[in-house]
Order: sequence, then C-alpha cells, then structure tokens
Amino acid sequence: MAKDQTTIFSFRFLLSTIFMLSIFSFISFLSWCHYFGQCYSPYRLMEQNQNATVNLLTYPFAWNRLSFSSKPPPKLLKIALFVKKWPQRFHAGGLERHALTLHLALAKRGHDLHIFTASSSNSSLPNYSIRNLYFHLSKPSPAGYLDQATVWKQFQTQNSTGRQFDVIHTESVGLRYTRSRNLTNLAVTWHGIAYETIHSDIIQELLRTPEESQSPALTERAKKVVEEVQFFPNYAHHVATSDHAGDILKRVYMIPEERVHIILNGVDQEIFKPDVSTGKEFKKKFDIPDSKLLVIGMAGRLVKDKGHPLMFEALKQIFEENNKFRESGIVVVAGDGPWAARYKNLGTNVLVLGPLEQAQLANFYNAIDIFVNPTLRAQGLDHTLLEAVLSGKPVMATRLASITGSVVVGSEMGYTFSPTVTSLKKAIYGVWGDGREVLDRKGQIARQRGLELFTATKMAAAYERLFLCISSGSYDNHFCQYRPRLN
Ligand SMILES: *[C@@H]1O[C@H](CO)[C@@H](O)[C@H](O)[C@H]1NC(C)=O
Ligand SMILES: *[C@@H]1O[C@H](CO)[C@@H](O)[C@H](O)[C@H]1NC(C)=O
Ligand SMILES: *[C@@H]1O[C@H](CO)[C@@H](O)[C@H](O)[C@H]1NC(C)=O
Ligand SMILES: *[C@@H]1O[C@H](CO)[C@@H](O)[C@H](O)[C@H]1NC(C)=O
Ligand SMILES: *[C@@H]1O[C@H](CO)[C@@H](O)[C@H](O)[C@H]1NC(C)=O
Repeated sequence: MAKDQTTIFSFRFLLSTIFMLSIFSFISFLSWCHYFGQCYSPYRLMEQNQNATVNLLTYPFAWNRLSFSSKPPPKLLKIALFVKKWPQRFHAGGLERHALTLHLALAKRGHDLHIFTASSSNSSLPNYSIRNLYFHLSKPSPAGYLDQATVWKQFQTQNSTGRQFDVIHTESVGLRYTRSRNLTNLAVTWHGIAYETIHSDIIQELLRTPEESQSPALTERAKKVVEEVQFFPNYAHHVATSDHAGDILKRVYMIPEERVHIILNGVDQEIFKPDVSTGKEFKKKFDIPDSKLLVIGMAGRLVKDKGHPLMFEALKQIFEENNKFRESGIVVVAGDGPWAARYKNLGTNVLVLGPLEQAQLANFYNAIDIFVNPTLRAQGLDHTLLEAVLSGKPVMATRLASITGSVVVGSEMGYTFSPTVTSLKKAIYGVWGDGREVLDRKGQIARQRGLELFTATKMAAAYERLFLCISSGSYDNHFCQYRPRLN
C-alpha cells in the first residue's frame, strides 16, 4: 500500500517535472525569439539546429546576425560609390553618415574606394590619409543632384584605367536608374522609401493645426510609391537598412527576394560605448546636479518632423502638473534648430547644449539615463538610437515600423509611444516610475543586442560579403554561401 502510494507519488512528481520543464523551455524560447525579434520562424530554428549552408542572397533576415570573419578580405575589390553629398565632419544626415562610416571602414580593410560625389563650393574635403581612397568631384545639377552625365564619364575613365570596377554601390539614387540598368554587379542602399513615408504624412496631417494648410504630400505620396515600384527593378541588388524596409521592398515593390538584402545600419562601437567616468565629467561640466534622478537625453536637429513640437508640449504639461517630476527630472538636449529656443523657455529643467562634436556626443550618452527620439520620420534606421543603444542606454522612440521592427523590438530594451501628446506623456511617466535601476537593466539588454547587430564592424563585414558575392556577376560563387562556424 505504502509502496503503491510512493509509486503514484513519484509518477505524479515526474509528470509535473516534465510539465514544468516544458513550460520553462517554452518561456525561454519565447524570450529568446523575442530578443531576436523573430518568433515562430521555422527557418530560424532550422538554422539553429543544423550546420546547413545558407544561400546569402535569399537569407530573409538581417545579415548583421551572421558572423563573418574579421580576417583580411580574401580578395581586394575596386569599388565605386555614388553619393550625392559627402559629409563635412560629423554634422550629417543619416544617408551621409552611413556613406562615411561604411566606406571608410571598407577602405581601411584595403579595398580601393572611388567616391563620386558633388563638390561643395564653401568647404573642402577632410584629409583622411587613406592611400586607397579616391574622390572624384563634380558640380551638382541645378536641382542639387549628382550631374549624371559628368559622373558617368568620370566613372568610365576610372573603369578603363588600370583595373575595371568589381562592384558599384549607390546611396539611394546617387546613380540614377537610367545608368544602373544593365549592371549586375551593382547594389543600391535605400535610406527611406516613399511607402514608409506615408506613415509620416498621416502623422503630420493628424498633428496639423487649423492654421496650417494640408500638405500636398498626403495625396501625392501614393503616386510616388507607384513611380518607385516602376523604377526600382532597374537596380540589380537592393539593401534595406531596416527589417521593415526589406519586407516592403519584397512585398509591395515586388522585387525578387534574391535581390533584396537587409543590412542594418551600424555605428562606431569604439566611440559609442559605456563609460561611467566620462558621463560623470559631462554632468559636472554642464552643471547637471546629482539630485536629478532622471536625466532624459535628446539629440539631433530640433525641427518639426523630428517630433519636437510633440515633445515640447508633453514636457510643458508634465512640468506644469507635476512638482516631483520638476524636482527630480531634467532634460538634456544636444542639437540645434527652431525648437532650441522654445525648449529654453521651459526653464531650468531643460538644458539646451547646442550641437556637440562626436566625442562630446559619446560622453553625452554616458551622462543620461534614457535617450528619447520623438521622430515622426518613418524613414531609414535612425543612427542616434543605435548610438544610445551601444552606449548601454535604453531608448524611447515613436512607434514607427523601422524602429519597432529592428531597434526597440521589446519592452525589455526600451519604450515606444504613438505620436500623440497623451501617449508620449504616458511613456515619460512610465520611465520616471520605473526609475534608474530598471533603466540600467534595460540599457544592458539593449547594448547586448546592439553589439550583435549595430556595430560598424558588423555592417561593414556584411557589405563586404555582399560585394564579394555580386562582384563576379555570376552569383554561384562561394562568397554567396554562408556556413555557420566555418563561414
Ligand atoms: C555541426 O558542426 C559541429 C562542428 O563541426 C559538429 O560537432 C556538430 O555535430 C554538427 N551538428 C550537426 C547537427 O550536424
Ligand atoms: C555651404 O553653403 C551652403 C549653401 O550654398 C550652405 O547651405 C551650407 O550651410 C554651407 N556650409 C558651410 C559649412 O558653411
Ligand atoms: C594628408 O595627410 C597626409 C599625412 O597626414 C599628408 O602626407 C598629405 O600630404 C596630406 N594631403 C593633403 C592633400 O593635404
Ligand atoms: C568596365 O570595364 C570593363 C572592362 O573593359 C567592361 O567590360 C565593363 O562593361 C565596364 N563597365 C561599365 C559599366 O561600363
Ligand atoms: C541596357 O540594355 C538594353 C537592352 O540590352 C539597351 O537597350 C540599353 O541601352 C542599355 N542601357 C544602358 C544604360 O546601357
């Protein structure tokens, strides 16, 4: 009798253990897949379980997830880059920042880089002292684009001098489709496509005050999408800088999957990294008192379409209605633009620093508890968010598909809000309620994921591999294959 009971008991014990174990593994699977933002994908599971070779050209996820060798490249390429404008120092928009970070990295890896870009009348190019980096300047067209006839002639001259180009890269429509048409060894990187922008148009219309007139963009944008769907196929390979844009290019723009590749933007991980002491010095330098238990940071151009009217209104209301927040919180703003003066009017709780040099900006990230980007531009993958993430800070950003799909993929690494004052206020109060400890933890999770995805090294390695793969014109070479472990 007693023995029977023991048997039943241990059998029950076994059953409940199995049950608990399966719950456990299910939960860990959930958090694991959430971490990578790709749940229930049989493909992902297959890749995890086997050493199967992956055909890179049809790889459906961001190439940043793969690990390519950091050894010197197996083959040095001669690369042509077409970019409308080359950035002067670090005051530059997303496309130019991307062009600079990526191509300097490729040149440093030994590839010959020929950059076809517009000359600027009032400034000269920095001297990078990299032997294998060549600039070919031309006067921009009246509309501010690259003069296609001129750059094409420059390109042809270089193509017939010494060795021919192995691969051609264009940042957006730097090289227009009329010239790109028949080139199989070409890739274009899109930093914003019209379909994504429709979301911004809708947001802007909803935020429009009665005095402002309706923007023509609202009705014109759909036509722009149709135009893009028609001319995009004239580029052989497409690089999407966010998971969302990759999906749109395949699904809405109907570009065959083997010609669409997702390579997320990356930022310099040697510059943007956690450093408690520089953060402290920064606070001291700019008189941010230790009594402030929540330091909210913002950076970038302080203009309307970066969401500053919304943020201004949300902060104004919070400061008015909440004494405690006023005492314990401070907002530090790095950047300039029309909203700088308005923020200053909010009083001592907002510190407007003006634009910062890159090194100072890195310290700024270390001084804050959370980085907020209220942008309304649903285009490309924002660099400031990636810089904050690599600095080990949680981020708070607008619920735009590129952000929720690639950066803030879960609440464990940050906060998202809808572009309304109510939703933004709720998110700010949420951050305040969570406090520094929770924010630190989220920041660490964000950084871990950031190191796997958003470093400049990862980005450059992915592009290098793509260029090696498409350079020969026939895509069945071994560079187009990826073998886990061996790669
Ligand atoms: C994958 O490769 C490793 C190392 O080469 C080997 O030990 C392992 O058994 C392989 N796994 C499968 C599922 O083939
Ligand atoms: C150069 O001139 C352009 C207009 O021609 C102006 O927009 C730009 O700000 C100037 N850049 C610098 C660095 O002065
Ligand atoms: C660029 O810098 C290198 C070394 O710093 C120097 O040798 C070279 O002359 C410079 N080039 C120009 C155009 O100033
Ligand atoms: C570049 O030169 C090679 C070799 O002469 C030629 O085959 C190729 O068509 C040229 N590329 C372009 C885009 O003109
Ligand atoms: C591309 O090829 C087509 C057909 O082969 C030809 O008509 C066209 O002129 C070529 N375009 C360019 C820019 O070389």
